[in-house]
Amino acid sequence: MAFRIVGVAGFGLMGSGIVEVCARAGYDVVVREVSDDLLARGLDRLERSLGRGVERGKLSAPDREAARKRVRGTTRIEELARCDLVIEAIVELMDAKKAFYAELDRVCPPTTVFASNTSSLSITEMASVTRRPERFVGMHFFNPVPVMKPVELVRGFLTSEETLAAARAFCETLGKTVVVCKDSPGFIVNLLLVPYLLDAVRALEMGVATREDIDTAVQLGLNHPMGPLTLLDFVGIDTTYYIAEAMYQEFKDTRYAAPPLMRKMVLAGHHGRKTGRGFYEYPEGRR
Ligand code: CAA
Ligand code: NAD
Repeated sequence: MAFRIVGVAGFGLMGSGIVEVCARAGYDVVVREVSDDLLARGLDRLERSLGRGVERGKLSAPDREAARKRVRGTTRIEELARCDLVIEAIVELMDAKKAFYAELDRVCPPTTVFASNTSSLSITEMASVTRRPERFVGMHFFNPVPVMKPVELVRGFLTSEETLAAARAFCETLGKTVVVCKDSPGFIVNLLLVPYLLDAVRALEMGVATREDIDTAVQLGLNHPMGPLTLLDFVGIDTTYYIAEAMYQEFKDTRYAAPPLMRKMVLAGHHGRKTGRGFYEYPEGRR
């Protein structure tokens, strides 16, 4: 089970990073979005990140060109049929994921392996709408994908050893460090990270300190690269809200209950850096 052509569904924050690392590792990539406009935005994000890679000396200009040429965008799900592996990075809502997989399962041959980049949702539940639960695995990358080393591989209830081994070998060709976990909400990292991020929002709601002071205290006090509110803007308030909701539904533990402020921000379209406004403002994409 070796992969040559990789499909990516969703060309947002994570999809564009996953496309980038696959293309840089030499895979041909087919990326599917729901509209031409979103495809163009994904391509623009990919170009900017490849450019940063060249600026930082991580990538040569000819390698950037070669990587760019390996990527093909489409809005047609049928074009994913020629891929050996499809990595899904669409919105973190179970109904949307299930609808996508039911359709993907109809268009792809039975040999195609499906991998979900979900942050929190059940691999077993997504796999249940396909005829290939043994060829279905969780493949959880971290943001920003070209920089962050780990991938959590998630074993669904019916994931085969062969699929897990092939997924591990594939992630290693991308230069990633693999950890394996069971199909439990939030897997390893988000089980620990999400309550911490929600507590930072609660601290802001309680008026403990300003957004800047909460971030500065944690960034310097714990030596983190970013404070929690900056990280929330970076990950996406909408995505974190959906992750928290999924975890709360599963655990019924108030540690995972999203504070009301987050719900209001999602409804208002303040989704963080990607929409220009979250806990901070990002005119021109910069704070
Ligand atoms: N390609 C390759 N390398 C790149 C790159 C690119 N496109 N862009 C940057 N880099 C490299 C840089 O060269 C640099 O490497 P060196 O240290 O070897 O020089 C490194 O990445 C850091 O880059 P920068 O100096 O440009 O940026 P920075 O120091 O300001 O760091 C950051 C930026 C990596 C985002 C850092 O702020 C950080 O680590 N933030 C926290 C990120 C985090 O916690 N992510 C996890 C989110 S949770 C998640 O993803 C799970 C979920 O389900 C929600
Ligand atoms: P995003 O909102 O930036 O992008 C999602 C994209 O998927 C959108 O552009 C949307 O148009 C597209 N999409 C929706 N339905 C589609 C379909 N049927 N076919 C193709 N494209 C479709 O979200 P994101 O942050 O990239 O998150 C995507 C997934 O990755 C989620 O499951 C999320 O939990 C997970 N994840 C996110 C992060 C993060 O830091 N943001 C980290 C790890 C994992």
